[in-house]
Amino acid sequence: MKLYDVIVAGATGMVGRKMIQVLEERNFPVGRLIPLASARSVGMEIDFKGRSYRVEELTHESLSRKDIEIALFSAGGSTSREFAPTAAKHGILVIDNSSAWRMEPDVPLVVPEVNRKDIFKHKGIIANPNCSTIQMVVALKPLHDRFKIKRVVVSTYQSVTGAGQKGYDQLMKEWNKESVPNPKFPYQISFNLIPHIDEFFEDGYTREEYKMMKETQKIMGDESIAVTATCVRVPVIGGHSESVNIEFEKPFEMSEVRELLAKAPGLIVQDKPQEKHYPMPIFAYDKDETFVGRVRRDETVKSGLNMWIVSDNIRKGAATNAVQIAEEFIKGK
Ligand SMILES: NC(=O)c1ccc[n+]([C@@H]2O[C@H](COP(=O)([O-])OP(=O)(O)OC[C@H]3O[C@@H](n4cnc5c(N)ncnc54)[C@H](OP(=O)(O)O)[C@@H]3O)[C@@H](O)[C@H]2O)c1
Repeated sequence: MKLYDVIVAGATGMVGRKMIQVLEERNFPVGRLIPLASARSVGMEIDFKGRSYRVEELTHESLSRKDIEIALFSAGGSTSREFAPTAAKHGILVIDNSSAWRMEPDVPLVVPEVNRKDIFKHKGIIANPNCSTIQMVVALKPLHDRFKIKRVVVSTYQSVTGAGQKGYDQLMKEWNKESVPNPKFPYQISFNLIPHIDEFFEDGYTREEYKMMKETQKIMGDESIAVTATCVRVPVIGGHSESVNIEFEKPFEMSEVRELLAKAPGLIVQDKPQEKHYPMPIFAYDKDETFVGRVRRDETVKSGLNMWIVSDNIRKGAATNAVQIAEEFIKGK
C-alpha cells in the first residue's frame, strides 16, 4: 500500500489534534506525520500510532520538504492565506479548515457525501466548509435532489468548542469559578447564550451567518437555494445543534422524506420523540456522523418541513470531513 507523508498545520489546536486522532482511527496510510504549529509550540510531543512526533514551526521552508503530498491546515485564516499557496506551489494538496479560501471560485468547497466530485477540480487547495454548514448540507442534500429546496431558515445552537481551545477554556474556567483573563466570548457563556458568532456586518447579520448562506449554495451547486440564518453560541461541548425549516418546490410525503434521510450517507435518523429519542450533543459527541430528528411537516406553508440536526463540530464539522476529503483524493488518484 502506498503511504503518504502528511503535514498537519495547527497540530496543537482543537481541530489539529482531532485530525491526528482521526487519521489514526481511520487508518489513513500515513508514512511520515509532520505536525506544525506556531513558534510557541515548537518541541511539544504529539502521539500518533504509538510514536511520538516533535512539533515544528510552520514556516515557508517547512513546506518545501520533498515527498509531502497532503497538508491538513487548521491554523486560522491569516496563517492559511500566508502558507497554503506555498504548500500548493510545492505540489502539496492543502485541505484547509479555515474560511480563507472557501468562496474562491477556483477552490472546491467539499463535503464528500454531497459533492465528492468537486475534489478532483482542485488547483492545489480544497476548502473544508464551516462546521455548521457541513452538518446541515449532509441532511439537506438527499431532500434537495428529490424535492428541490426553495428556502431554508436555520437557527444554530453552537458549541463553545467551535471557538477552539480558548472557547472551551472560557466555559471550563467559568464553571470552576476561576477568573478568565482574556475571554474568547464577549460575555459570560456559562448559564447564558450569545446570539453573536464572528463579526457583525452593517445589515445586522454576522459573518458566521453569511458563511451558512453562501457556503450552502456553493457546496450544493445551486445558487437558487435561499438560506437565512441566526447563529447562537451556547454553553455546550458535544456539538452544534440546528433547528432547520425547509420549504420545497415540490410536494412531498413524510414517508418518503424519512426513507431518503434513512438512506443518506453519513446521516443517522434519531426520531422517536414519544420514546424521547432525538439528537442531542451528548449523543453526537465524538461521533463522525450527523444526526437528524424531530422531523415533521410545517403546515404553515405549501411544502414545508422542520428538522433538528446535531453533529460534533470538531469531528464531522472539521477533522473527519478533512480526512474524508483526503481519503477520497487518494482513492481517485
Ligand atoms: N473548532 C471548530 O469547530 C472548527 C470547525 C471548523 C473549522 N475550524 C477552523 O480551524 C482552525 C483552527 O481552529 P481550532 O478550533 O483548532 O483553534 P485552536 O484550538 O485555537 O488552534 C489553533 C491552532 O493554530 C495554530 N496557529 C495559530 N497561529 C499560528 C501561526 N501563526 N503559525 C502556525 N500555527 C498557528 C495554533 O498553534 P499554537 O498552539 O502554537 O498557538 C494551534 O495549533 C480555524 O481556522 C477555525 O476557524 C474550527
